[in-house]
Amino acid sequence: MKFFVDTADIDAIKELHALGMVDGVTTNPSLIHKSGRDIKDVTREICELVDGPVSAETVALDAEGMIAEGHELKKIADNIAIKVPLTWEGLKACKQLTDEGNMVNVTLCFSANQALLAAKAGATFISPFIGRLDDLNLDGMNLIADIREIYDNYGFETQILAASIRSANHMSEAAKIGADVATAPPKVIQAMVNHPLTDKGIESFLSDWEKTGQSIL
Ligand code: E4P
Repeated sequence: MKFFVDTADIDAIKELHALGMVDGVTTNPSLIHKSGRDIKDVTREICELVDGPVSAETVALDAEGMIAEGHELKKIADNIAIKVPLTWEGLKACKQLTDEGNMVNVTLCFSANQALLAAKAGATFISPFIGRLDDLNLDGMNLIADIREIYDNYGFETQILAASIRSANHMSEAAKIGADVATAPPKVIQAMVNHPLTDKGIESFLSDWEKTGQSIL
């Protein structure tokens, strides 16, 4: 499973990138707002750091507007994936933008039917939002499984980009189901390393090591 980082925080991207954890980046208008930066400036900086797809989101509500914004965002760098919402207008924009050879990430997906439509419209990525479904007491991970089954049934090449990931557990569950990509905030990727038995093991090994009176260096 590829890891995308869901942030516009340059320092956080740099830190994870140095460990080989960044196969791509996703942003959205809320993350751009949080960064306090100009969308083009910060997106350009991310694209200079990361070779993989960097999703930048359109904000128009009509297909024509999304296409125009997509063209503008694509000027930033070749590795831009244009993000459009899962509406009928978004599907129109997706079809045209993918026909032109652009990567398109269809976002705000909350049902298997929406994912089926996005695949038919040629989406490069479909972004089902796990956490926001869980927030409503629905089963976000079940949606990932349903989309995996449907795409596999018919050989759709659209990549499942598990989004709105809120916990390390979401990462392993998405990987078990076979999501192609998971996009998570930096703190969730970092939390994947944590295990109390690892900490306890280090503590007991160090305690015994001190008793040997030896040093390695
Ligand atoms: C994905 O592309 C979105 O930017 C993101 O995963 C949304 O996550 P949230 O529901 O935690 O805001």
